Amino acid sequence: MKSIDYYRNREQTYLKHFFLERYLERVGFNICSFRDDFVYVDGFSGPWKSRDEQFEDTSFMIAIKELRKVREGVARLGKRPPSIRCVFVEKGPKAFNELQDAVRGITDIEITPIPGEFEEVIPQIGKAIRQSFSLVFIDPTGWTGFGLKRIVPILEHRPGEVIVNFMFDFIRRGFGVSFDALFGGPDWDASMTEDETIQLYSKRMKAAGRFDHVTSTRILNPTSDRTYFYLVYATRHWKGLLEFRNVK
Ligand SMILES: C[S@@+](CC[C@H](N)C(=O)[O-])C[C@H]1O[C@@H](n2cnc3c(N)ncnc32)[C@H](O)[C@@H]1O
Repeated sequence: MKSIDYYRNREQTYLKHFFLERYLERVGFNICSFRDDFVYVDGFSGPWKSRDEQFEDTSFMIAIKELRKVREGVARLGKRPPSIRCVFVEKGPKAFNELQDAVRGITDIEITPIPGEFEEVIPQIGKAIRQSFSLVFIDPTGWTGFGLKRIVPILEHRPGEVIVNFMFDFIRRGFGVSFDALFGGPDWDASMTEDETIQLYSKRMKAAGRFDHVTSTRILNPTSDRTYFYLVYATRHWKGLLEFRNVK
């Protein structure tokens, strides 16, 4: 991925992309060492605020590059190269056109771009995942568009894992707004502390997807000591938990 200089004034995005790249490298390799199929789903794929003509500062391009490395790494072990596929969802028509143009020439990885709102295209995503192992990345611009009840079929998919960019800063500022859809019920209220909020979301996500483990990592706002967002990670395997915690 691009260096941090490239992400000036977008340091949070740099941290998110850094994390995604490292985690994909680890989980992709682990999964593809014993399975021959892996699907990466980016539910809010962009491009968004990209400054690079080749889109190398976007999550979808970072993922494609990383997944190629995973496939080569597995092949070096003398194993049959795994089938690695990507599903990219984007609701903005202009961004979707850019996404389509950017991935059109890619033939070594099967890519399914889906236009529309994540919650609305859950059946199409499910069809594209088929029976493969799926890693679903949910990276919204706010707190809407991934209501827990609406996305249950994706959360429940087995084998599979989910990473959510949980924008705590938006929730802190969103007094008077209903977060019922986000939490999949009316349990959250504005008196809750940050820790209680993230614990509640993790608990709801664990139940909705029947996951064994849900954990999170806190990303601080670089210009203050406050939280900017959490990456919430749901898995059914202790090894995934270990890899997630070890990303540095
Ligand atoms: C924060 S950006 C994420 C960009 C990308 N994941 C990255 O890191 O490079 C969110 C993207 O999701 C799109 N989006 C917003 N709401 C959406 C929804 N409900 N369904 C699908 N895409 C959505 C926006 O147009 C935007 O491109």
